Amino acid sequence: MKAIEMIGINKSFGSKFANADVDFHVDKGEIHSLLGENGAGKTTLMNILFGMIKPDSGKILLNEKEVKIDSPLEAIANGISMVHQHFMLVDNLTVAENIVLGAEPKKGILFDREGAFREIQEIADRYHFVIDPRELVGNLSVGVKQRVEILKALYHRSDILILDEPTAVLTPQEVNDLFKVLKELKADGKTIIIITHKLKETMAIADSVTILRRGALIGRYNISEVDEQKLADLMVGRLVNFSIEKKPMEGEMPVKLSLKNISLKKKNGKQALDDLSLEVHAGEILGVAGVEGNGQSELIEVLTGVAPHYSGVYMIGENDVTNKNAKTILKYMANIAEDRKARGYVKNFTNWENLILGYHTLSDYMTKAGFLKTREIRKITEEEIEANDIRTDGPMQFTDSLSGGNVQKLIVARMLRHQKGLVLAAQPTRGVDIGAIEYIHGELVKLRDAGAAVILISAELDEIVKLSDRIAVLYEGRVAALRKAEEFTESELGSYMLGHDPEKEGAEA
Ligand SMILES: Nc1ncnc2c1ncn2[C@@H]1O[C@H](COP(=O)(O)OP(=O)(O)OP(=O)(O)O)[C@@H](O)[C@H]1O
Ligand SMILES: [Mg+2]
Repeated sequence: MKAIEMIGINKSFGSKFANADVDFHVDKGEIHSLLGENGAGKTTLMNILFGMIKPDSGKILLNEKEVKIDSPLEAIANGISMVHQHFMLVDNLTVAENIVLGAEPKKGILFDREGAFREIQEIADRYHFVIDPRELVGNLSVGVKQRVEILKALYHRSDILILDEPTAVLTPQEVNDLFKVLKELKADGKTIIIITHKLKETMAIADSVTILRRGALIGRYNISEVDEQKLADLMVGRLVNFSIEKKPMEGEMPVKLSLKNISLKKKNGKQALDDLSLEVHAGEILGVAGVEGNGQSELIEVLTGVAPHYSGVYMIGENDVTNKNAKTILKYMANIAEDRKARGYVKNFTNWENLILGYHTLSDYMTKAGFLKTREIRKITEEEIEANDIRTDGPMQFTDSLSGGNVQKLIVARMLRHQKGLVLAAQPTRGVDIGAIEYIHGELVKLRDAGAAVILISAELDEIVKLSDRIAVLYEGRVAALRKAEEFTESELGSYMLGHDPEKEGAEA
């Protein structure tokens, strides 16, 4: 039986079709993966199902009966819940309060707080969620926040759960935990739709897939009919190349960047970086691997000059840039920011403004008298849009209205345009589609082949292994291991990431 069927869905924004005559269905009790490049229309289609967006035309059937869903409240009343790409939780409420918001259990006319705690604890226990209903949401990690969102759906007794890129911000361990939960939900007869850019995840968890490309339906397949390569090709509409070709490393190349004995405490007094030392050479990609929360964010802050005061020495070439500010460091090192929303671009800037963000005083962009050469900049922006295949209306579009992958391509374009042989790529492919990943990886390798020093900080172990010449594993703010990439096995990397030392443990055994 079909739990959901959407027929002939159309939705355009201005002149652009986000969904063009899309047919979509999910059978009851299956896990269905919705795939497509950035901007393909996945979120739009699910927002229509969840009543957040009104389609221009089309029908929705629930359990094979036509329904009208004009708001999220109506969706929830119909047993549909959605966990959004960006969580919608209130930080200064507790887990329980967030979950019951809008559907509070009452004792008489009063909010039954204890009753809420109890009910939520019961659901949590049933699905083996480790969570304290009394904790403030603001204190939770992303992985746990997501559990709150899922608990919320279960609390509303939803039979259909839509998850929009739930794994983009999770660590590998958290992804495993999430998938266990999804399998239990499926065993309980729930229907699950999951949007992801990670085809490995689709292959691991989905029963069937739907592929959209540029707003249109490409097809629906059972998982047994497809593999990763086929899915990639269908999504992108051409053959996708997963392999990376790199020139062999040249001999000893000069050190472009070095950190010596860097230590940094967090506000809460915890040691975030602990006597950390690293060197990056010209012509190499140094990968920094690690489970998130082991100092990566602080390392990025130090490298980009936004960290609070730290001890140790930071050199770029011959220049001592210890505790220098972001503006100074930008002169030497271009970067792809870890959190593109917070640091990668300015929300109410257009594409051309964001393309030159941090570089607007260069003579390419500014006259001697201090005026921006707007006409030239827009022309340059048009060229960059073309060269980097950024899907946008043009230089004047607000960057914030681009899809995630296209925002990232704009940031990559800025980095490529302004780099001077030293680049920091922090989580460079987070939330971007496989076509864009292929492109970004290719550009990083090209930079390296041309002699640039590249620091790659990523939570994606695959990405680290594929691109890096040397890998440093970060654990609790220290470099737990540092070797040539080919000298690590994946299981050794995993061990170091979890704080074990396979060599010592091997010797002891
Ligand atoms: N509110 C909006 N206003 C204008 N255009 C929009 C709006 N929402 C979506 N779009 C456009 O509709 C198209 C589909 O967007 P959608 O967010 O559904 O893509 P997606 O497949 O979810 O992409 P991603 O993988 O990047 O999340 C894109 O071209 C996007 O720019
Ligand atoms: Mg989306």
